[in-house]
Amino acid sequence: MDSQVIKPASRMQQIKPSPTLAVNAKAKAMKAAGADILNFSVGEPDFDTPAHVCEAGKAAIDEGFTRYTAVPGIPELREAIAMRFKEDKGWDYSAEQIQVSCGGKHGLYNMAQALFGPGDEVLIPTPYWVSYPPIILLAGATPVLVDLPEENRFDLSADILKSHITDKTRGIILNSPSNPTGAVFSKNALAAVADMALKNGLVVISDDIYDTIVYTDEPAPHILNVEPRIKEQLLILNGVSKSFAMTGWRIGYTLGPQHIIAAMNKIQSQSTSNASSIAQKAALAAVTGSQEFPLKMKKSFLPRRDFIISELRGIENISCVVPDGAFYVFPNMSAYFGKSFKGNKINGSVDMSAYLLEESFMATVPGAAFGSDEFVRFSFAASMESIKEGMKRLKEALAKLN
Ligand SMILES: Cc1ncc(COP(=O)(O)O)c(C=O)c1O
Repeated sequence: MDSQVIKPASRMQQIKPSPTLAVNAKAKAMKAAGADILNFSVGEPDFDTPAHVCEAGKAAIDEGFTRYTAVPGIPELREAIAMRFKEDKGWDYSAEQIQVSCGGKHGLYNMAQALFGPGDEVLIPTPYWVSYPPIILLAGATPVLVDLPEENRFDLSADILKSHITDKTRGIILNSPSNPTGAVFSKNALAAVADMALKNGLVVISDDIYDTIVYTDEPAPHILNVEPRIKEQLLILNGVSKSFAMTGWRIGYTLGPQHIIAAMNKIQSQSTSNASSIAQKAALAAVTGSQEFPLKMKKSFLPRRDFIISELRGIENISCVVPDGAFYVFPNMSAYFGKSFKGNKINGSVDMSAYLLEESFMATVPGAAFGSDEFVRFSFAASMESIKEGMKRLKEALAKLN
């Protein structure tokens, strides 16, 4: 036993490890011990990185492209990202307005460090992606959770926003399509955010990491298109993790006003230095090459979404909003809270996820991890076969509760 003379800094008391990674680790350990685990907890596509992208990574190694790079990322990658956004969305960003980071998550970390500090409040629509509150807390600022009602399909509204704004509010984080709900914010919601941000001088962070996975006929509305004047106050987060099945390569990018990107570069220069040189070359191949791959993934997710939704909606007392994007469903399972199995009461989403893992060998993520305890998140980036088996096990597990 360590003497524990040295102690973690007091700020660590506010921070918990990522709950999604924790569930994934437990499920993997059970699987390694021989259990027939169905894993619906993962936040990544069930596809391999495309071959041409892997080849570019291998070529980078063979060519000795293995040294430090420029802090904000290699110029050709930043230029390619600017070109991709111009071509796909019509947005004008220069290489100086782009930072490449070690995954989208670290881009967000750099942003929060560059923008927020003690006394600042940052609005976080809830259910939220697990890392937003800790990243804001690590910057010394205060996350303010803004509950989005399920009845309103987890959309934002001017009224909800107004009731949370104070003279300390400095920013808001948007995530559309959302992890965990799959919700896509409406034009009205985005117009309300833009209006509030312009009137109050707020930063808008738009986390667009799932923007290639949208199931509606129309592309997801974007705040920059809804209100172009927001550009001066807008930071856009994206990356290749979800769009090119590159979660392990750790490449994300931020687009924003040059002076904020410069501040983020200072932080990056004193922390990670730069994203991996090899991964940057691979990302360059992803961004400049054929854009068929994200479309192919989306096409394959759609029938799985439709199937899991129809199964969940067929279960008594479960409600589930149809996700318009990403690869998650977020059913409300609170009608089962208070019920028991073999004398063990299910008190909330954490107990429900534990019950499903231990009794039915299926890994899910409790809604509590996303700030919404009534729900449980299932990723449908899993084979159709395992989704079918999972829904069967879910029905059996719920039928055993009384
Ligand atoms: C909403 C959201 N934003 C950002 C990220 C970060 O992605 P990465 O750091 O893997 O690029 C994730 C990953 O799960 C996410 O779900």
